[in-house]
Amino acid sequence: MKVFHAQSQLKQHLQPFLKAKQTIGFVPTMGAIHNGHLSLLQQAMNENDVVVLSIFVNPTQFNNVEDLEKYPRTLQKDLELTEALSNKIIVYAPTVDDIYKGNTVAQNFDYDGLDNEMEGVNRPGHFDGVGTIVKKLFEIIEPTKAYFGEKDFQQLQIVRKMVQKNNMNIEIVGCPIFRQENGLAMSSRNERLSDQAKEKAAFIYKTLQSAKDLFNDKDVKDSVNFVVDAFANEVDFTLEYFIIADEASLKTATVKEPGKKYRGFIVVHIEEVRLIDNIALN
Ligand code: PAJ
Repeated sequence: MKVFHAQSQLKQHLQPFLKAKQTIGFVPTMGAIHNGHLSLLQQAMNENDVVVLSIFVNPTQFNNVEDLEKYPRTLQKDLELTEALSNKIIVYAPTVDDIYKGNTVAQNFDYDGLDNEMEGVNRPGHFDGVGTIVKKLFEIIEPTKAYFGEKDFQQLQIVRKMVQKNNMNIEIVGCPIFRQENGLAMSSRNERLSDQAKEKAAFIYKTLQSAKDLFNDKDVKDSVNFVVDAFANEVDFTLEYFIIADEASLKTATVKEPGKKYRGFIVVHIEEVRLIDNIALN
């Protein structure tokens, strides 16, 4: 499997594919590869001639140094898991300097307010950091299609907006949330949960599914209250938020409007681990 640490060498390797008009599928990650990431890679392999995976813990999207330092860095294991899926995947695992050239700062983006909702509220600048790294990676790799998980639905919509505003000719593909058998959305953070908590966390997706059923014939308020009440009765969980929002604007909905698509977004803490999930409601 080809692994590059320098963008100059990666670009050189990709040049013949670009010239031959082969399609390049791209999956950006921060590593700590799990089955969720692998599902994105599999979809990219199904739809493209070549696939590039990036593994880079991006400093400009972290709000504090401690989180950045604590982020798992498991390159060797990541490469093994990737190679087990396919040794044809091209890996780009750059250093901070190869990306930022001594100027590790985020560009400012205008996402038409998408970054002021949910995950943007308590993480100022986070989505500028995401936009900065994704744009840089797009410019280096020049992919035909890039794959993002619906797990981070707000990030997916923000990347779509960034591509549109910068007139980049790249198709952004949203991929379904890959779940454990019990419904818990795959995340590197799940590793920090006890087996017992992992089992209990099945409650999150079950509750989201019930909220979706309710949403069919009840008001927005009824579905929200249902979720809030469900978690109020669970001592092991702390609900940070459950919001029903319009998929396009990510603005919190209070009433259903015809023609709009809605999604329920949840953040729950268990054993001091912050879990995030969402579900399409209509
Ligand atoms: P990371 O958290 O490593 O996630 C990489 C990609 O995997 C994202 O698109 C994320 O939505 C997707 N993903 C994670 N868990 C998933 C699951 N259970 N099912 C489906 N997809 C899943 O998101 C980032 O990295 C970074 O912000 C990045 C975009 C790489 C920019 O630094």
